Amino acid sequence: MTTRVLITGAYGQVGVDCVDTFNGLIPPGGSSFLPPVSAGEFDVIGVSHHDLDVSNESMVTRVVEMIRPDAIVHLAAYTAVDKAETDEGTCRAVNVDGTRFLAEAGERVGAHVIAISSDYVFDGRSARAYVEGDERNPLGAYGRSKRDGEDAVSASVSMIRASWVMGSRGKNVVRAVRDRLASGGEVRFVTDQVGTPTMAADLSRVLVEFVRHRPGGIWHVANTGEASWCDVISAEAEILGAGSVLPITTHELNPAPLATRPAHSALDTGKLHRDMGISMPHWRDGLQRLLEGAE
Ligand SMILES: NC(=O)c1ccc[n+]([C@@H]2O[C@H](COP(=O)([O-])OP(=O)(O)OC[C@H]3O[C@@H](n4cnc5c(N)ncnc54)[C@H](OP(=O)(O)O)[C@@H]3O)[C@@H](O)[C@H]2O)c1
Repeated sequence: MTTRVLITGAYGQVGVDCVDTFNGLIPPGGSSFLPPVSAGEFDVIGVSHHDLDVSNESMVTRVVEMIRPDAIVHLAAYTAVDKAETDEGTCRAVNVDGTRFLAEAGERVGAHVIAISSDYVFDGRSARAYVEGDERNPLGAYGRSKRDGEDAVSASVSMIRASWVMGSRGKNVVRAVRDRLASGGEVRFVTDQVGTPTMAADLSRVLVEFVRHRPGGIWHVANTGEASWCDVISAEAEILGAGSVLPITTHELNPAPLATRPAHSALDTGKLHRDMGISMPHWRDGLQRLLEGAE
């Protein structure tokens, strides 16, 4: 039987990989840590911001009732972390209200809803990686909107906290500096922000499992291994065989970013392993696949 999946934010960084993954278009050479998608398993309907503004409740209701999906993968979000500091109303309209509208509309048509939250719900003061039940204390407007988006939905929704996402398309730090490194340039990256880098393609593979199994509740999904931004970009330079990275601290960033980021927001994925049997590949393995164009 075919499962109809509605994907919001389908043209965003995770969205493009997610649409391809659900359509079974994972190129050979990619990581195979999860069962592949079989032909006809999913009927995928990816919608852009233009097709569906998730902050518009009547539009959400109309689109969800017209498509009547079996599952909704809700990726649309306001993701401009610094801009959110001076535009919190818009950020909340998308990340809090929009998430609630999708969850309620999904519930009305019997769809399983999967929404994405963030490591930025935490303050980053923990010495160890965060588990799902740890206390949340966001440092900025984006993190607050993600926390309140989590609270705006029922426990039947699968709420996935992701972190430091990077894909082969869309906006991310690895892509932003690639040309500069490849031409032998030097870039500066901080050593005092540590997290769990996550490949959009690997996150998308896990989203397929969530549609298949519909667990509900809060989950951490990230590649394994912790790294600072300096570590990630140094690994990129090493894989490309070009460029260099000058380690700096957050205080040396000029201009100083508007939003304060958590210092240590790594996500512990033990629950994903224990309860769903999913072991994520190491971030460096994922970065290598991404830079080599394996996916
Ligand atoms: N990137 C990360 O490091 C990271 C980390 C943790 C969690 N996450 C979460 O993962 C999810 C996917 O992130 P991403 O990296 O794919 O972000 P992204 O590249 O910024 O994509 C977000 C998409 O949402 C769309 N969008 C914005 N406002 C909308 C609205 N009102 N209605 C409908 N669509 C709207 C955007 O379209 P326009 O550009 O046309 O406005 C964009 O295509 C988000 O929930 C994000 O918060 C991301």
